[in-house]
Amino acid sequence: MYYPEEIVEEVRQRNDIVDVISGYVRLTKKGNNHFGLCPFHNEKTPSFSVSGPKQMYHCFGCGASGNVFTFLMNYENYSFVEAVKSLAQRAGVTLPEVEYTEQMRQKENRRARLLEINKEAAKYYYYQLRAPQGKSGYDYFAKRQLSDETMKNFGLGFSNKTSNDLCLYLKQKGYSEELIRDAGLAIFNERYGFSDKFWNRVMFPIQDINHRVIGFGGRVMGDGEPKYLNSPETEIFDKSRNLYGLNFARTSRESSFILCEGYMDVIALHQAGFKQAVASLGTAFTSGQANLLRRYVDQVFLCYDSDGAGTKAALRAIGILKEAGIIGRVIDLKPYKDPDEFIKNLGADEFQQRLIKAQNSFLYEIGQLEKAYDLTDPAGKTRFHNEIAKKLCGFEEEVERENYIEAIAEKYHIGYEALRKLVFSYASKTGMVAPAVRPKSGQQEKKRTAEDKEKLSQRLLLTWLIEEPGLFEKVKKYLSPEDFTDELYQEVAGLLFDDLSQGKVNPAAIISHFTEEEKQQEVGLVFQTSLEEMQTRQEKERAFHDIIVGVKRNSYNHFTKKLGSDVTALARVIEGKKALEELERTHISLEQG
Ligand code: UTP
Ligand code: MN
Repeated sequence: MYYPEEIVEEVRQRNDIVDVISGYVRLTKKGNNHFGLCPFHNEKTPSFSVSGPKQMYHCFGCGASGNVFTFLMNYENYSFVEAVKSLAQRAGVTLPEVEYTEQMRQKENRRARLLEINKEAAKYYYYQLRAPQGKSGYDYFAKRQLSDETMKNFGLGFSNKTSNDLCLYLKQKGYSEELIRDAGLAIFNERYGFSDKFWNRVMFPIQDINHRVIGFGGRVMGDGEPKYLNSPETEIFDKSRNLYGLNFARTSRESSFILCEGYMDVIALHQAGFKQAVASLGTAFTSGQANLLRRYVDQVFLCYDSDGAGTKAALRAIGILKEAGIIGRVIDLKPYKDPDEFIKNLGADEFQQRLIKAQNSFLYEIGQLEKAYDLTDPAGKTRFHNEIAKKLCGFEEEVERENYIEAIAEKYHIGYEALRKLVFSYASKTGMVAPAVRPKSGQQEKKRTAEDKEKLSQRLLLTWLIEEPGLFEKVKKYLSPEDFTDELYQEVAGLLFDDLSQGKVNPAAIISHFTEEEKQQEVGLVFQTSLEEMQTRQEKERAFHDIIVGVKRNSYNHFTKKLGSDVTALARVIEGKKALEELERTHISLEQG
């Protein structure tokens, strides 16, 4: 382990999970738990719960769960060590300098090295832009009216005409060719060998929300193909989960963001004072990005190019935003093509006006739809109205739907009652107005194999024990941690049994006992297995009995198979047989004590 377990535990205890998560998600208290919209998947009704007593979170929609460390790991994209460090700082705990285990060091090291090498490259490009050989790049930015301060804020740089100088520089700093390549900064080519990925381009470093450089975009100065060359996805660069400018926008204190198409748009907007502007990374806007935005705002202004491609992309983005529960509004940039051009010509104040006048995304969609119909022709007009009615069925909430029916009726001079009727006839034909069905969690969808079933009863028992620790006395009569045949569950059971025999329950601490991220996630889930709704005491007792028998029988079968190859197997088989026989005769009461 990287830090001593006591220290990790101290850090965990001094960071109340409800406090920490409240900093990211709006939570409302209901009974012992707090609820909010899950930050890890798209949803409109809260199924994300945070438990103060258990110091754990769990989403009933997507199954995400864990403790305060795993929350930060998932949310901030931190490694375990980074999460511990950040929470230690938050609570004022001083961490000791400690030794790494080899495995930890390698993993931490690789990420850290990739971040480091990107930072080195950014520094190199930055320096080149200001050196004599970078004059053409500097002039290019200046011609596009970027101030020195803006260039500095965004860390803009230049990759010069030499085709392998960055590689040489990085190698001389001690980075291997493999690492340079894995960071996406170099390419290998049969003919030219190892060379820089970017050359003779102005460079835009791409930063994550914590201002760490994770990749680059490079633009040709003038015409040339491709206009922008981007870093490939790497272990630290996930294009669908980052946005250009978000590192600044998240602290802009604005209640909505502006989503645009390009790096230059973001930069021009920031320079004009709109620090809430972000853009996707040379790829189409994704639902992962929408989720990221929803952590900060519930409204997004779309500021896409006013040409055909831009309109199409905007319509697509509206759908994605809506699915993530974000209100979209569309900024009209006409007669200019993009925000960069707009600001250059009309200035920041005029842009602010357009922001205020931005159109509701539904009305924008209908406005686009209108173009496809000839409204002077009665048949065309009818088809248009029908199409509108169909779209209006998409609103699940009655109040919202009514409001839109009213707005549309007024705008397009359709009789209110007539439009309403049309909407309802559509709805009844297609059953569309019925509330949307919540996605089932993956757990339920999967067909359970025999192995899943065995693991399930082990998991159920572990969850049950943390819910009702008083039952431990009964369980330990029949089961020991070795009966949990799944390796990870066995380790968890060992820790849990130890705690319980001392009269403690501390599931959140058990999670952070594990240092590997995948394991922490899995352990989090072990404690969140949903116990079936059992109405009567009889049903409950029956289920409890069945689960204990299930775990024991599985253990018995497991060791029977190992007879002859495992010296401890025989003893366990004999013990197991006895326990199973006894269990068959025994009624286990849930009466505690
Ligand atoms: P634009 O062509 O609108 O770029 O493409 P822009 O940012 O406005 O650039 P300027 O003003 O012409 O310099 C929008 C975004 O699409 C991606 C880039 O992320 C760009 O910012 N893109 C575009 C590419 O990745 N590759 C390309 O060849 C072109
Ligand atoms: Mn542009």
